[in-house]
Amino acid sequence: MTREKLLYLETFGCQMNVSDSEKIAALLKGVGYQPTQDPSQADLVILNTCSVRAKAEEKVYNHLVQYKGLKRKKPGIILGVGGCVAQQEGERLLANVPHLDIVFGTHNLHLLPELVRAAEKGERLAEVGFIDNETRLDLFPVDERTDGVSRFVTVMQGCENFCSYCIVPYVRGREISRRSADILGEVRGMAGKGVKEVTLLGQNVNSYGLKSSGEMSFIALLREVSLIPGIERIRFTTSHPKDFSQPLIDCFAEIPKLCRHIHLPAQSGSNAVLAAMNRGYTREEYLGSIARLKAACPSIQITGDIIVGFPGETEEDFQATLSLMEEVRYTDVFSFIYSKRPETKAAGYADEVGQDEKQGRLSRLLDLQRRITLETNKSFVGTVQQVLIEGESRRGGQFYGRTSGNRVVNLAADVSLVGSIVNVMITRGDQNSLQGELCR
Ligand code: SAH
Ligand code: SF4
Ligand code: F3S
Repeated sequence: MTREKLLYLETFGCQMNVSDSEKIAALLKGVGYQPTQDPSQADLVILNTCSVRAKAEEKVYNHLVQYKGLKRKKPGIILGVGGCVAQQEGERLLANVPHLDIVFGTHNLHLLPELVRAAEKGERLAEVGFIDNETRLDLFPVDERTDGVSRFVTVMQGCENFCSYCIVPYVRGREISRRSADILGEVRGMAGKGVKEVTLLGQNVNSYGLKSSGEMSFIALLREVSLIPGIERIRFTTSHPKDFSQPLIDCFAEIPKLCRHIHLPAQSGSNAVLAAMNRGYTREEYLGSIARLKAACPSIQITGDIIVGFPGETEEDFQATLSLMEEVRYTDVFSFIYSKRPETKAAGYADEVGQDEKQGRLSRLLDLQRRITLETNKSFVGTVQQVLIEGESRRGGQFYGRTSGNRVVNLAADVSLVGSIVNVMITRGDQNSLQGELCR
């Protein structure tokens, strides 16, 4: 009997890539590759990559260097790179990395079994063509997983917003919405396997369906998903502030299954910077949406993304970002130092902020956010939160779950409660999580 073949899959970047990696694993299982956690045992190593910032891209090259040694020891091993760096670099990657066998782009996951078969025969190939129709996302099995209470469901891919700093539209292509019938079918299938929470995933979910004739809107999709028995919680990410409409705000008050959390990236609090970023909203419009959201749903938890050191950002612009953060009182913020990306409009902008200045602004921003996060986490102490128990923590005897507002809670529980929503009294608020006790 031949030994089963093993796949080592490394994932970088956003949830879109995490979701793609699940599809990659499922597809390769279909052609005989079982997952392994040990690259030295693997017959096939795939890196699913991110190029949103230069650091993310450098990481891929560093990992590729590490695999050079492995390939020397085990020449039969196949090495592949997919995702956003693969899309950006294409054939160049094959030319620059002699020990690489396969390059596949963000629209070419379904070709992977063919590419692997060819590589098994010694060929080196790159497939990075864009495929612009909505059938693409349904070309392959997506849900081979049988574990987990919370899952991502891709509802759309690509982005056409062209924020001036961002490479995503170039590496993910045009915006394409998946057919609602397929999405709902997938969620029903997940519910049948015990999944309790789904996160609808897209670079800009607000524009779901708008470009597909006869398709339902994102709000209608949310309502349809909420009717599926067994699904108890719904989340979505990411929304763009420029398309954040009142009907979507009303959903937080009207759909009980919709979790009380929104990720709404502001990127900056300065109108001059927002305009240069091509974000399509002002500080006042953003804060107006936040105020309406808090009015519709007072318990909503808001998270966001901020970029510091965008070309031309002055100290005054940066102060405007800090004051926006104080006003919104984000529960958490992902903050990034601006990174110049190929092809993007901002790559041609003058007035780059110096590296030390960027670092200094980032640490001031982090200090502020740490304070707000801790204050927020402490404010939950003494409240009862509904927590979906997701699994056992690494710390013995402890389990973890999340509140509707997406705060992580650690608590003593037992395995029979995994997958249940339970009432938890919050006893402590730490910097990164909450501690609680089951209400019996
Ligand atoms: N579609 C989502 C996520 C995009 S990428 C959205 O629009 O919100 C995730 C985050 O990376 C962005 O929100 C932004 O804050 C950050 N980012 C993107 N390009 C960047 C760049 N060139 N430099 C620094 N941060 C960047
Ligand atoms: Fe990038 Fe802007 Fe699209 Fe988000 S909305 S993926 S930041 S271009
Ligand atoms: Fe990175 Fe691509 Fe996601 S660039 S952030 S993995 S869409």
